[in-house]
Amino acid sequence: MTWLMVAVVVVVAAAGLLRWRRPAWHWLTFGALVATVRVLVRYASVMEACGLTVPPSRWRLALARMTNRPAPESRPPRILRLRPTRTGLVLRLKLQPGQDAFDVAAATDRLRHSFGVYGVTSRELRSGVVEVRMTGYDVLQRVQMPATAETRPMRIPVALREDGAVHYRDYRAVPHGLTLGATESGKSVYQRNLVAGLAPHHVALVGIDCKQGVELFPLARRFSALADNPDTALDLLEALVGHMEDVYQLIRAEQRISVAVPDAEIAADIWDLREDLRPVPVVVLVDEVAELALFATKDEEKRRDRIITALVRLAQLGRAAGIYLEICGQRFGSELGKGITMLRAQLTGRTAHRVNDETSANMAFGDVSPDAVLAAIQIPTDTPGVAVTGDSTGGWARTRAPHITLREAVNICNKHADRTPDVPALAAFRPALAPLPKARVPLSKTAPATA
Ligand SMILES: Nc1ncnc2c1ncn2[C@@H]1O[C@H](COP(=O)(O)OP(=O)(O)OP(=O)(O)O)[C@@H](O)[C@H]1O
Ligand SMILES: [Mg+2]
Repeated sequence: MTWLMVAVVVVVAAAGLLRWRRPAWHWLTFGALVATVRVLVRYASVMEACGLTVPPSRWRLALARMTNRPAPESRPPRILRLRPTRTGLVLRLKLQPGQDAFDVAAATDRLRHSFGVYGVTSRELRSGVVEVRMTGYDVLQRVQMPATAETRPMRIPVALREDGAVHYRDYRAVPHGLTLGATESGKSVYQRNLVAGLAPHHVALVGIDCKQGVELFPLARRFSALADNPDTALDLLEALVGHMEDVYQLIRAEQRISVAVPDAEIAADIWDLREDLRPVPVVVLVDEVAELALFATKDEEKRRDRIITALVRLAQLGRAAGIYLEICGQRFGSELGKGITMLRAQLTGRTAHRVNDETSANMAFGDVSPDAVLAAIQIPTDTPGVAVTGDSTGGWARTRAPHITLREAVNICNKHADRTPDVPALAAFRPALAPLPKARVPLSKTAPATA
């Protein structure tokens, strides 16, 4: 008996310790089972308490009356499937007549504490079928991407959503992206994740990092072209526009539309071309975009206008030529001058890290969703990397990218350095991999002159 008591105490203590220190392991060992049993046992009463039941239909009442049975109870949505996952439970419900997906969405907060889980979200799968995703713990606290996250060409698992699902950056579905956030909010780490995710793929990476290259130049071995100041950035962007025009010439030359060619085989973008002819897709990563749009002199103003024009052209025409933009900055609004809002309108994939004011959040989501604006402002300062991301359905979700250090990203880029393709139009901007220049030592740090 005492042994049994000791075993129970040890198991309970282990569960408590795991829950505190390693919530993910706790979920896999104890949490999933306990939560599944709890949901199944409490289901009917919780649904009733949350107002998600419908009264019995007339014919059931009539049948009960005819057979002299007690009146049937109200019925909750039918459970089609209950599936434990790595981070929570997924419940698929068939709604009763008269219910709609909005009823479930409105009750998610009540369901959350009634079932004793960390978070609940819902979405309609098809008419009358709703998926309720529950998370057992705060998955954004310590992000661990599932090893099984599916990677396809140009579709990179980049962050975890708060409902435990993987957030993908899919360049073919959403060609251009804008990432905003205050300083120290996690933009560069997000971009680093993207580079690390893209590194093993057949894709040319082009970087513009006007922070003197501190973020992207360490990853140079996997980059086909890099610029660390606005002058080089201008030449690089104009070369990219030239590359885009060449690709369009190639597509046109390959179209050869005749009566015999089936519709599906007419090439309209690089993905329709034969694999041996297809030019390599290019992802252009721009960090601290405001640096490209600021100017102090007349000459700098001319340079700025040419840079923004090139970016707008790439955003408007680049997709079919396989050129995708990934722009990061602290703010990206009309105060940066003409052309900026036009460029922003082309950047479909929006991500906002923590922002300090509503106007900055509006630059990402003002024209998409007012709720997302509010969510972006509410991100706390002590969780860098947490972001609000628009998804392909027009909705939004809170996400967080895994923390990848510069060292880890450098290692991944070096490992895949042999995959760096040569883009002839950008050859002049290929980073030289010579030893680093010696840093200039600030005067105050030099040895004092001896008298
Ligand atoms: N996803 C994350 N998980 C955990 N910590 C993170 C995450 N993203 C960023 N951080 C932390 O926040 C710090 C700042 O991140 P980062 O350099 O990406 O910010 P930033 O938005 O690019 O800032 P700046 O605008 O000054 O360049 C990082 O050094 C890192 O320690
Ligand atoms: Mg940064």
